[in-house]
Amino acid sequence: MPNAFRVLPGGRLTGRIRVPGDKSISHRSIMLGALADGKTRVTGFLEGADAISTMNVFRALGVRIDGPQDGCVTVHGVGVDGLRGPDRPLDCGNAGTAMRLLMGLLAGQRFASTLVGDESLTRRPMRRVAEPLERMGARIETADGRPPVRILPAERLTGIDYQMPMASAQVKSAVLLAGLYAEGETVITEPAPTRDHTERMLEGFGVKLGREGARVRLVGGQRLTATSIDVPADISSAAFFLVGASIAEGSDLVLEHVGMNPTRTGIVDILRLMGADIEALNPREVGGEPVADLRVRSARLRGIEVPERLVPLAIDEFPAVFVAAACAEGRTVVTGAEELRVKESDRIAVMADGLRALGVDATPTPDGMVIEGRGAGPVFAAGEVTSHADHRIAMSFTIAALRAGGPLLIRDTANVGTSFPGFPALAARAGISIAEIDA
Ligand code: S3P
Repeated sequence: MPNAFRVLPGGRLTGRIRVPGDKSISHRSIMLGALADGKTRVTGFLEGADAISTMNVFRALGVRIDGPQDGCVTVHGVGVDGLRGPDRPLDCGNAGTAMRLLMGLLAGQRFASTLVGDESLTRRPMRRVAEPLERMGARIETADGRPPVRILPAERLTGIDYQMPMASAQVKSAVLLAGLYAEGETVITEPAPTRDHTERMLEGFGVKLGREGARVRLVGGQRLTATSIDVPADISSAAFFLVGASIAEGSDLVLEHVGMNPTRTGIVDILRLMGADIEALNPREVGGEPVADLRVRSARLRGIEVPERLVPLAIDEFPAVFVAAACAEGRTVVTGAEELRVKESDRIAVMADGLRALGVDATPTPDGMVIEGRGAGPVFAAGEVTSHADHRIAMSFTIAALRAGGPLLIRDTANVGTSFPGFPALAARAGISIAEIDA
Protein backbone atom coordinates (compact mmCIF):
# COMPACT_ATOMS: atom_id res chain seq x y z
CA MET A 1 0.00 0.00 0.00
CA PRO A 2 1.35 3.46 -0.83
CA ASN A 3 2.18 5.32 2.35
CA ALA A 4 3.20 8.75 1.07
CA PHE A 5 1.98 11.59 -1.12
CA ARG A 6 4.18 13.40 -3.59
CA VAL A 7 2.55 16.75 -4.33
CA LEU A 8 3.75 19.10 -7.05
CA PRO A 9 3.74 22.81 -6.29
CA GLY A 10 1.15 25.31 -7.47
CA GLY A 11 -2.23 24.94 -9.09
CA ARG A 12 -5.66 26.33 -8.31
CA LEU A 13 -8.88 24.72 -7.12
CA THR A 14 -11.96 24.90 -9.31
CA GLY A 15 -15.22 23.08 -10.04
CA ARG A 16 -17.75 21.48 -7.72
CA ILE A 17 -16.94 18.62 -5.35
CA ARG A 18 -18.67 16.79 -2.53
CA VAL A 19 -16.43 15.56 0.27
CA PRO A 20 -17.40 12.35 2.16
CA GLY A 21 -19.95 12.15 4.95
CA ASP A 22 -19.53 13.61 8.40
CA LYS A 23 -17.49 11.35 10.67
CA SER A 24 -19.14 12.37 13.94
CA ILE A 25 -22.64 11.81 12.56
CA SER A 26 -21.66 8.54 10.86
CA HIS A 27 -20.37 7.03 14.13
CA ARG A 28 -23.51 8.10 15.96
CA SER A 29 -25.84 6.81 13.22
CA ILE A 30 -24.57 3.27 13.88
CA MET A 31 -24.57 3.58 17.66
CA LEU A 32 -28.03 5.09 18.01
CA GLY A 33 -29.43 2.98 15.17
CA ALA A 34 -28.21 -0.14 17.01
CA LEU A 35 -29.91 0.92 20.26
CA ALA A 36 -33.18 1.82 18.55
CA ASP A 37 -36.30 -0.26 18.08
CA GLY A 38 -36.65 -0.86 14.33
CA LYS A 39 -34.57 -0.33 11.21
CA THR A 40 -32.57 2.85 10.73
CA ARG A 41 -31.63 3.77 7.17
CA VAL A 42 -28.53 5.92 6.71
CA THR A 43 -27.48 7.69 3.51
CA GLY A 44 -24.29 9.68 2.92
CA PHE A 45 -22.50 7.43 5.45
CA LEU A 46 -18.72 7.93 5.67
CA GLU A 47 -17.11 4.78 4.31
CA GLY A 48 -13.84 5.58 6.08
CA ALA A 49 -11.94 3.26 8.38
CA ASP A 50 -13.09 5.02 11.59
CA ALA A 51 -16.81 4.67 10.94
CA ILE A 52 -16.26 1.13 9.65
CA SER A 53 -14.57 0.31 12.99
CA THR A 54 -17.73 1.41 14.78
CA MET A 55 -19.81 -0.68 12.42
CA ASN A 56 -17.71 -3.79 13.10
CA VAL A 57 -17.86 -3.23 16.85
CA PHE A 58 -21.67 -3.25 16.72
CA ARG A 59 -21.65 -6.37 14.56
CA ALA A 60 -19.54 -8.00 17.29
CA LEU A 61 -22.21 -6.87 19.77
CA GLY A 62 -24.82 -8.82 17.83
CA VAL A 63 -26.30 -6.09 15.64
CA ARG A 64 -27.10 -6.82 12.00
CA ILE A 65 -25.90 -4.01 9.75
CA ASP A 66 -26.26 -4.05 5.97
CA GLY A 67 -23.78 -2.05 3.89
CA PRO A 68 -22.11 0.27 3.45
CA GLN A 69 -22.88 0.48 -0.22
CA ASP A 70 -22.59 3.83 -1.96
CA GLY A 71 -23.02 5.47 1.44
CA CYS A 72 -26.18 3.52 2.29
CA VAL A 73 -26.38 1.54 5.52
CA THR A 74 -29.28 -0.21 7.24
CA VAL A 75 -28.96 -0.81 10.97
CA HIS A 76 -31.31 -3.42 12.39
CA GLY A 77 -31.77 -1.97 15.86
CA VAL A 78 -31.87 -4.35 18.82
CA GLY A 79 -33.31 -1.92 21.39
CA VAL A 80 -31.49 -0.37 24.37
CA ASP A 81 -31.22 -3.73 26.13
CA GLY A 82 -30.62 -5.95 23.09
CA LEU A 83 -26.81 -5.87 22.70
CA ARG A 84 -25.01 -9.19 23.16
CA GLY A 85 -21.75 -9.68 25.04
CA PRO A 86 -18.85 -9.90 22.56
CA ASP A 87 -16.57 -12.93 22.36
CA ARG A 88 -13.47 -10.85 21.59
CA PRO A 89 -12.01 -7.41 22.30
CA LEU A 90 -13.78 -4.62 20.42
CA ASP A 91 -11.33 -2.96 18.04
CA CYS A 92 -11.88 0.78 17.61
CA GLY A 93 -8.88 1.17 15.26
CA ASN A 94 -7.84 4.83 15.09
CA ALA A 95 -11.22 6.16 16.25
CA GLY A 96 -11.23 8.09 19.52
CA THR A 97 -14.89 8.92 19.05
CA ALA A 98 -15.77 5.23 18.78
CA MET A 99 -13.88 4.30 21.92
CA ARG A 100 -15.03 7.18 24.10
CA LEU A 101 -18.70 7.00 23.15
CA LEU A 102 -18.65 3.20 23.48
CA MET A 103 -17.30 3.51 27.02
CA GLY A 104 -20.48 5.36 27.98
CA LEU A 105 -22.76 3.02 26.11
CA LEU A 106 -21.10 -0.18 27.36
CA ALA A 107 -20.99 1.05 30.97
CA GLY A 108 -24.71 0.36 31.15
CA GLN A 109 -24.63 -3.21 29.80
CA ARG A 110 -24.97 -6.43 31.76
CA PHE A 111 -21.87 -7.95 30.12
CA ALA A 112 -18.16 -7.21 30.28
CA SER A 113 -16.27 -5.86 27.28
CA THR A 114 -12.80 -4.69 26.33
CA LEU A 115 -12.04 -1.83 23.96
CA VAL A 116 -8.74 -1.76 22.08
CA GLY A 117 -7.29 0.52 19.42
CA ASP A 118 -4.28 1.14 17.20
CA GLU A 119 -0.98 2.63 18.34
CA SER A 120 -2.18 6.23 18.15
CA LEU A 121 -5.45 5.53 19.98
CA THR A 122 -3.59 3.53 22.63
CA ARG A 123 -1.69 6.71 23.56
CA ARG A 124 -4.84 8.81 24.04
CA PRO A 125 -6.34 9.76 27.42
CA MET A 126 -9.46 7.87 28.55
CA ARG A 127 -9.64 9.00 32.20
CA ARG A 128 -11.65 12.03 31.11
CA VAL A 129 -14.46 9.63 30.21
CA ALA A 130 -13.91 6.96 32.87
CA GLU A 131 -14.03 9.55 35.66
CA PRO A 132 -17.64 10.80 35.21
CA LEU A 133 -18.81 7.29 34.32
CA GLU A 134 -17.35 5.93 37.57
CA ARG A 135 -19.22 8.64 39.43
CA MET A 136 -22.37 7.18 37.88
CA GLY A 137 -21.42 3.75 39.23
CA ALA A 138 -19.62 2.32 36.19
CA ARG A 139 -16.73 -0.12 36.64
CA ILE A 140 -13.93 0.74 34.27
CA GLU A 141 -10.31 -0.39 34.12
CA THR A 142 -7.71 1.32 31.96
CA ALA A 143 -3.97 0.91 31.49
CA ASP A 144 -2.94 3.95 33.50
CA GLY A 145 -5.66 6.07 31.94
CA ARG A 146 -5.15 4.74 28.41
CA PRO A 147 -6.52 1.86 26.31
CA PRO A 148 -7.15 -1.02 26.49
CA VAL A 149 -10.32 -0.17 28.41
CA ARG A 150 -12.13 -2.92 30.27
CA ILE A 151 -15.76 -2.29 31.19
CA LEU A 152 -17.35 -4.55 33.78
CA PRO A 153 -21.07 -4.81 34.40
CA ALA A 154 -22.18 -2.30 37.03
CA GLU A 155 -24.79 -3.10 39.66
CA ARG A 156 -26.57 0.02 38.54
CA LEU A 157 -25.87 3.46 37.11
CA THR A 158 -27.22 6.60 38.71
CA GLY A 159 -27.65 9.99 37.05
CA ILE A 160 -25.15 12.69 38.01
CA ASP A 161 -24.92 16.44 37.68
CA TYR A 162 -21.61 16.82 35.87
CA GLN A 163 -19.63 19.99 35.22
CA MET A 164 -17.28 19.03 32.41
CA PRO A 165 -13.74 20.28 33.10
CA MET A 166 -12.87 20.46 29.39
CA ALA A 167 -14.85 21.30 26.25
CA SER A 168 -15.24 17.80 24.80
CA ALA A 169 -18.17 16.48 22.80
CA GLN A 170 -16.86 12.96 23.27
CA VAL A 171 -16.99 13.20 27.06
CA LYS A 172 -20.44 14.84 26.92
CA SER A 173 -21.71 12.15 24.56
CA ALA A 174 -20.34 9.26 26.63
CA VAL A 175 -22.05 10.58 29.75
CA LEU A 176 -25.32 11.09 27.84
CA LEU A 177 -25.22 7.53 26.48
CA ALA A 178 -24.57 6.14 29.96
CA GLY A 179 -27.42 8.38 31.13
CA LEU A 180 -29.81 6.34 28.98
CA TYR A 181 -29.06 3.42 31.34
CA ALA A 182 -29.00 5.42 34.58
CA GLU A 183 -31.62 5.80 37.24
CA GLY A 184 -32.89 9.35 37.44
CA GLU A 185 -31.65 12.40 35.62
CA THR A 186 -28.19 13.01 34.13
CA VAL A 187 -27.23 16.67 33.80
CA ILE A 188 -24.12 17.90 31.99
CA THR A 189 -22.80 21.44 31.87
CA GLU A 190 -20.12 22.29 29.32
CA PRO A 191 -17.51 25.00 29.83
CA ALA A 192 -17.91 26.09 26.16
CA PRO A 193 -20.20 24.91 23.34
CA THR A 194 -19.05 21.72 21.59
CA ARG A 195 -20.59 19.76 18.73
CA ASP A 196 -24.14 18.76 19.60
CA HIS A 197 -24.76 15.89 17.18
CA THR A 198 -25.50 13.43 20.00
CA GLU A 199 -28.19 15.71 21.38
CA ARG A 200 -29.76 16.42 17.98
CA MET A 201 -29.66 12.79 16.95
CA LEU A 202 -31.03 11.46 20.25
CA GLU A 203 -33.95 13.84 19.73
CA GLY A 204 -34.28 12.53 16.17
CA PHE A 205 -34.64 9.04 17.68
CA GLY A 206 -37.44 10.34 19.93
CA VAL A 207 -35.48 10.74 23.17
CA LYS A 208 -36.56 13.68 25.32
CA LEU A 209 -33.73 15.99 26.35
CA GLY A 210 -33.74 19.27 28.20
CA ARG A 211 -31.37 21.78 26.61
CA GLU A 212 -30.87 25.25 28.00
CA GLY A 213 -27.66 27.13 27.31
CA ALA A 214 -24.59 25.15 28.35
CA ARG A 215 -26.70 22.48 30.04
CA VAL A 216 -28.25 19.27 28.78
CA ARG A 217 -30.48 16.91 30.81
CA LEU A 218 -31.66 13.42 30.10
CA VAL A 219 -33.85 11.09 32.15
CA GLY A 220 -32.74 7.44 32.03
CA GLY A 221 -34.85 4.53 30.86
CA GLN A 222 -36.04 6.08 27.57
CA ARG A 223 -36.27 4.04 24.38
CA LEU A 224 -35.11 5.06 20.91
CA THR A 225 -37.27 4.75 17.80
CA ALA A 226 -35.59 4.00 14.47
CA THR A 227 -35.41 6.85 11.96
CA SER A 228 -33.68 7.76 8.72
CA ILE A 229 -30.46 9.76 8.68
CA ASP A 230 -29.02 11.76 5.78
CA VAL A 231 -25.39 12.45 6.67
CA PRO A 232 -24.12 15.80 5.33
CA ALA A 233 -20.63 16.19 3.89
CA ASP A 234 -18.06 16.63 6.66
CA ILE A 235 -17.10 20.27 7.22
CA SER A 236 -13.85 18.95 8.74
CA SER A 237 -12.99 17.36 5.37
CA ALA A 238 -14.25 20.41 3.47
CA ALA A 239 -11.86 22.50 5.58
CA PHE A 240 -8.81 21.43 3.55
CA PHE A 241 -10.45 22.73 0.40
CA LEU A 242 -11.71 25.90 2.09
CA VAL A 243 -8.12 26.69 2.99
CA GLY A 244 -6.71 25.38 -0.32
CA ALA A 245 -9.00 27.51 -2.48
CA SER A 246 -8.39 30.54 -0.24
CA ILE A 247 -4.59 30.35 -0.54
CA ALA A 248 -4.28 29.31 -4.23
CA GLU A 249 -4.62 32.26 -6.58
CA GLY A 250 -7.32 31.93 -9.24
CA SER A 251 -9.38 29.38 -7.28
CA ASP A 252 -13.17 29.26 -7.40
CA LEU A 253 -14.52 26.06 -5.88
CA VAL A 254 -17.95 24.91 -4.70
CA LEU A 255 -18.18 22.33 -1.90
CA GLU A 256 -21.58 20.70 -2.01
CA HIS A 257 -23.95 19.74 0.81
CA VAL A 258 -21.61 20.68 3.68
CA GLY A 259 -22.87 20.27 7.24
CA MET A 260 -23.18 23.76 8.77
CA ASN A 261 -24.14 22.89 12.33
CA PRO A 262 -23.19 26.06 14.27
CA THR A 263 -21.13 23.95 16.69
CA ARG A 264 -18.91 22.97 13.72
CA THR A 265 -18.53 26.13 11.64
CA GLY A 266 -15.65 27.73 13.55
CA ILE A 267 -13.38 27.14 10.54
CA VAL A 268 -15.58 29.33 8.33
CA ASP A 269 -15.61 32.06 10.99
CA ILE A 270 -11.83 31.89 11.46
CA LEU A 271 -11.13 32.01 7.72
CA ARG A 272 -13.56 34.90 7.24
CA LEU A 273 -11.83 36.82 10.05
CA MET A 274 -8.61 36.26 8.07
CA GLY A 275 -10.27 37.77 4.99
CA ALA A 276 -11.42 34.61 3.17
CA ASP A 277 -14.15 34.82 0.55
CA ILE A 278 -16.59 32.06 1.51
CA GLU A 279 -20.23 32.22 0.51
CA ALA A 280 -22.89 29.84 1.87
CA LEU A 281 -25.28 29.08 -0.99
CA ASN A 282 -28.68 27.44 -0.82
CA PRO A 283 -28.81 26.98 2.97
CA ARG A 284 -31.24 24.22 3.93
CA GLU A 285 -31.96 21.72 6.68
CA VAL A 286 -31.48 17.98 6.24
CA GLY A 287 -32.62 15.61 8.99
CA GLY A 288 -32.17 18.14 11.78
CA GLU A 289 -28.77 19.43 10.58
CA PRO A 290 -28.21 22.68 8.64
CA VAL A 291 -26.47 22.19 5.28
CA ALA A 292 -25.20 24.56 2.56
CA ASP A 293 -23.05 24.62 -0.56
CA LEU A 294 -19.91 26.62 0.11
CA ARG A 295 -18.37 28.72 -2.68
CA VAL A 296 -14.82 29.72 -1.90
CA ARG A 297 -12.61 31.97 -3.97
CA SER A 298 -9.00 32.87 -3.41
CA ALA A 299 -8.38 35.86 -1.17
CA ARG A 300 -5.54 37.75 0.48
CA LEU A 301 -5.52 36.39 3.99
CA ARG A 302 -4.25 38.36 6.96
CA GLY A 303 -2.93 37.07 10.28
CA ILE A 304 -5.26 37.25 13.28
CA GLU A 305 -5.48 36.39 16.93
CA VAL A 306 -7.90 33.50 16.78
CA PRO A 307 -10.71 34.18 19.30
CA GLU A 308 -10.62 31.44 21.95
CA ARG A 309 -14.39 30.99 21.80
CA LEU A 310 -13.94 29.63 18.26
CA VAL A 311 -11.39 27.00 19.29
CA PRO A 312 -13.81 24.18 20.28
CA LEU A 313 -15.93 24.98 17.22
CA ALA A 314 -12.98 24.36 14.89
CA ILE A 315 -10.98 21.91 17.01
CA ASP A 316 -10.26 19.42 14.22
CA GLU A 317 -9.44 22.12 11.67
CA PHE A 318 -6.35 23.68 13.27
CA PRO A 319 -3.82 21.80 11.14
CA ALA A 320 -5.45 23.46 8.11
CA VAL A 321 -5.74 26.82 9.93
CA PHE A 322 -1.95 26.74 10.56
CA VAL A 323 -1.37 26.32 6.82
CA ALA A 324 -3.69 29.26 6.10
CA ALA A 325 -1.83 31.31 8.72
CA ALA A 326 1.53 30.61 7.04
CA CYS A 327 0.08 32.05 3.81
CA ALA A 328 -1.47 35.11 5.47
CA GLU A 329 0.03 38.57 5.75
CA GLY A 330 1.31 39.08 9.32
CA ARG A 331 1.20 37.12 12.54
CA THR A 332 -1.43 34.60 13.61
CA VAL A 333 -1.71 33.61 17.25
CA VAL A 334 -3.66 30.58 18.45
CA THR A 335 -4.23 30.16 22.20
CA GLY A 336 -6.54 28.05 24.35
CA ALA A 337 -6.06 25.04 22.08
CA GLU A 338 -4.17 22.65 24.40
CA GLU A 339 -6.64 19.88 23.41
CA LEU A 340 -4.73 19.71 20.12
CA ARG A 341 -1.95 17.97 22.01
CA VAL A 342 -4.09 14.87 22.64
CA LYS A 343 -5.65 14.32 19.21
CA GLU A 344 -4.58 11.57 16.78
CA SER A 345 -1.12 13.10 17.20
CA ASP A 346 0.18 16.07 19.19
CA ARG A 347 -1.05 18.45 16.51
CA ILE A 348 0.78 21.46 17.93
CA ALA A 349 4.17 19.73 17.92
CA VAL A 350 3.72 17.84 14.67
CA MET A 351 2.41 20.84 12.71
CA ALA A 352 5.09 23.17 14.11
CA ASP A 353 7.83 20.65 13.17
CA GLY A 354 6.43 20.23 9.66
CA LEU A 355 5.95 23.95 9.06
CA ARG A 356 9.48 24.67 10.26
CA ALA A 357 10.88 21.89 8.06
CA LEU A 358 9.31 23.77 5.14
CA GLY A 359 10.85 27.07 6.19
CA VAL A 360 7.90 28.68 8.00
CA ASP A 361 8.49 30.72 11.16
CA ALA A 362 6.21 28.80 13.54
CA THR A 363 6.60 28.73 17.32
CA PRO A 364 4.67 26.14 19.28
CA THR A 365 3.32 27.19 22.68
CA PRO A 366 1.78 24.98 25.38
CA ASP A 367 -1.73 25.81 24.16
CA GLY A 368 -1.32 26.89 20.55
CA MET A 369 1.09 28.40 18.05
CA VAL A 370 2.46 31.68 16.79
CA ILE A 371 2.97 31.79 13.03
CA GLU A 372 4.58 34.61 11.08
CA GLY A 373 2.70 34.57 7.79
CA ARG A 374 4.63 35.08 4.58
CA GLY A 375 1.88 36.74 2.54
CA ALA A 376 2.23 36.68 -1.25
CA GLY A 377 4.34 34.28 -3.35
CA PRO A 378 5.57 30.78 -2.54
CA VAL A 379 5.40 30.19 1.20
CA PHE A 380 6.63 26.63 1.72
CA ALA A 381 10.08 25.42 0.66
CA ALA A 382 10.30 22.13 -1.21
CA GLY A 383 10.88 19.32 1.24
CA GLU A 384 9.41 16.50 3.22
CA VAL A 385 7.29 16.14 6.32
CA THR A 386 5.77 13.26 8.23
CA SER A 387 2.18 13.19 9.37
CA HIS A 388 2.91 10.91 12.35
CA ALA A 389 0.04 8.74 11.10
CA ASP A 390 -2.38 11.64 11.58
CA HIS A 391 -4.86 11.96 8.70
CA ARG A 392 -5.53 15.66 9.16
CA ILE A 393 -1.82 16.54 9.26
CA ALA A 394 -1.26 14.65 5.99
CA MET A 395 -4.10 16.47 4.23
CA SER A 396 -3.09 19.87 5.59
CA PHE A 397 0.42 19.57 4.14
CA THR A 398 -1.08 18.38 0.86
CA ILE A 399 -2.91 21.68 0.42
CA ALA A 400 0.20 23.58 1.50
CA ALA A 401 1.75 22.42 -1.79
CA LEU A 402 -0.55 24.90 -3.56
CA ARG A 403 1.79 27.59 -2.23
CA ALA A 404 5.08 25.69 -2.24
CA GLY A 405 8.22 26.56 -4.16
CA GLY A 406 8.89 22.91 -5.09
CA PRO A 407 7.52 19.40 -4.56
CA LEU A 408 6.44 18.21 -1.12
CA LEU A 409 6.80 14.65 0.08
CA ILE A 410 4.34 13.79 2.83
CA ARG A 411 5.08 10.54 4.66
CA ASP A 412 2.88 8.23 6.71
CA THR A 413 -0.36 8.98 4.89
CA ALA A 414 -2.12 5.59 5.18
CA ASN A 415 -4.50 6.92 7.85
CA VAL A 416 -6.00 9.53 5.52
CA GLY A 417 -8.60 6.86 4.80
CA THR A 418 -9.82 6.96 8.41
CA SER A 419 -11.78 10.14 7.71
CA PHE A 420 -11.42 10.87 4.00
CA PRO A 421 -11.39 7.85 1.70
CA GLY A 422 -10.65 8.95 -1.85
CA PHE A 423 -8.87 12.15 -0.79
CA PRO A 424 -6.05 11.95 -3.37
CA ALA A 425 -8.49 11.46 -6.25
CA LEU A 426 -10.80 14.25 -5.13
CA ALA A 427 -7.87 16.60 -4.49
CA ALA A 428 -6.57 15.82 -7.98
CA ARG A 429 -9.99 16.52 -9.47
CA ALA A 430 -10.10 19.89 -7.75
CA GLY A 431 -6.64 20.84 -9.09
CA ILE A 432 -3.87 19.47 -6.86
CA SER A 433 -1.06 17.49 -8.53
CA ILE A 434 -0.86 14.58 -6.13
CA ALA A 435 0.49 11.07 -6.51
CA GLU A 436 0.34 8.24 -3.98
CA ILE A 437 3.73 6.55 -3.72
CA ASP A 438 5.73 4.11 -1.63
CA ALA A 439 8.40 6.05 0.19
C1 S3P B 1 -15.71 14.43 18.17
C2 S3P B 1 -15.34 15.32 19.14
C3 S3P B 1 -14.04 16.01 19.17
C4 S3P B 1 -13.33 15.91 17.83
C5 S3P B 1 -13.39 14.52 17.27
C6 S3P B 1 -14.83 14.09 17.06
C7 S3P B 1 -17.04 13.79 18.25
O1 S3P B 1 -13.22 15.42 20.16
O2 S3P B 1 -12.00 16.32 17.96
O3 S3P B 1 -12.71 14.46 16.04
O4 S3P B 1 -17.49 13.20 17.24
O5 S3P B 1 -17.68 13.87 19.30
P1 S3P B 1 -13.24 15.94 21.69
O6 S3P B 1 -14.55 15.66 22.25
O7 S3P B 1 -12.16 15.12 22.37
O8 S3P B 1 -12.88 17.38 21.64
